[in-house]
Amino acid sequence: MLLIVASIVYWFIMRKIKEKRQSKYTFSITSVAASFEESSTRRELDGSTRNSDLQFFELRKIVAATDNFSVSNKLGEGGFGSVYKGCLSNGKEIAVKRLSKYSGQGIEEFKNEVAIIAKLQHRNLVRILGYCVQGEEKMLIYEYLPNRSLDTFIFDETKRSLLDWGKCFEIICGIARGILYLHQDSRLRIIHRDLKASNVLLDNAMHPKIADFGMARIVGGESGDQIEANTNRVVGTYGYMSPEYAMRGLFSVKSDVYSFGVLLLEIIYGKRNSTYFHDDPSSNLIGHVWELWKEGKAMEIVDSSLVDKTPDNEVARCIQIGLLCVQEYATDRPNMSSVVAMLGNDRPLPSPQQPAFVLKGSNHRKDTSTSEGAISVNEVTISLIHGR
Ligand SMILES: *[C@@H]1O[C@H](CO)[C@@H](O)[C@H](O)[C@H]1NC(C)=O
Ligand SMILES: *[C@@H]1O[C@H](CO)[C@@H](O)[C@H](O)[C@H]1NC(C)=O
Ligand SMILES: *[C@@H]1O[C@H](CO)[C@@H](O)[C@H](O)[C@H]1NC(C)=O
Ligand SMILES: *[C@@H]1O[C@H](CO)[C@@H](O)[C@H](O)[C@H]1NC(C)=O
Repeated sequence: MLLIVASIVYWFIMRKIKEKRQSKYTFSITSVAASFEESSTRRELDGSTRNSDLQFFELRKIVAATDNFSVSNKLGEGGFGSVYKGCLSNGKEIAVKRLSKYSGQGIEEFKNEVAIIAKLQHRNLVRILGYCVQGEEKMLIYEYLPNRSLDTFIFDETKRSLLDWGKCFEIICGIARGILYLHQDSRLRIIHRDLKASNVLLDNAMHPKIADFGMARIVGGESGDQIEANTNRVVGTYGYMSPEYAMRGLFSVKSDVYSFGVLLLEIIYGKRNSTYFHDDPSSNLIGHVWELWKEGKAMEIVDSSLVDKTPDNEVARCIQIGLLCVQEYATDRPNMSSVVAMLGNDRPLPSPQQPAFVLKGSNHRKDTSTSEGAISVNEVTISLIHGR
């Protein structure tokens, strides 16, 4: 009897949800946020946190600001579209993320990004100013950050010298605080899923700001203890992806911790090397650092621009924290509050276990070769369907 009642109630609720979903296809910011909320029953969103400052920009203003999306104003390619620099008639500089018209996924990513980022405010996250939707055009308008992204500094021989260790350390700590906010200090628990050097922007004072929430997911609510979700669609960037995510589509706060570890090691190493994969584990950055660490020579990875002027113990500590973050088993990896604490004190650190060498051997290769879609080994964000 109880079962029958329960299934009727269930059916009724499902029907309501379905009706609600179908009846909505207007693109106002609230409906975007609302349909986003609906599509995931597991989360608890607080409507009052919605950022009412979010402004609607008219398309013609954006066209004028970006000189009709001229090539000279193009800042780069993001996850699902291009980013342009713009200057509003009042002189304010903006960055416009224009979603590709032909990307079916783009609309989902757009809804997602608006809904998520509108609720977030932290000095280590890029600030959204508004959005523009007109016809087929969908755009997000952000504050413009003159110093561009972190990868343009750390992977560039000459610009790298502008960052001394003190600055690098500040950047590392800022990124860590930004992720900590996403994971547990905001009202939502958010997993970014695409943390990498090109998604960290730098303001005039070289403070880091995490950008690009197109792939981000909310898991659980304030009190929700769900920290791991399974997805059939693996998105992210190889080299920064934890093994459980790259191979089984499992993501959690610990997969962001993994990406953070890679990023930290890249900042110290000063080379883009982690995306390379080969049977020889030491041919990727993490494998290389691990081999040296075992021999007590981890300091050899420190980029020459940092060497000389660097307090060795602080760098060595950061390398160890990086290795703790990229450990093979997610449960071994520290959470972000531990990472922030470890960066901020000098208490002894645990010894890292063997890291994961994503796609290290032929077995792992086989796993991924069952996936559909292009596997790119460069820095471009990939999106592929796991054939499972
Ligand atoms: C902007 O460029 C597109 C083609 O790239 C063109 O169709 C459109 O008329 C231009 N708009 C303005 C305002 O110049
Ligand atoms: C960052 O940007 C500001 C403002 O454009 C500029 O003054 C500063 O020199 C830049 N810093 C670096 C390291 O390029
Ligand atoms: C990555 O770095 C290691 C150590 O410097 C080097 O042996 C290896 O060849 C590099 N791999 C690539 C693809 O650059
Ligand atoms: C983070 O890890 C520490 C140490 O394992 C633990 O005490 C703390 O409760 C964790 N915090 C969260 C929010 O899970």
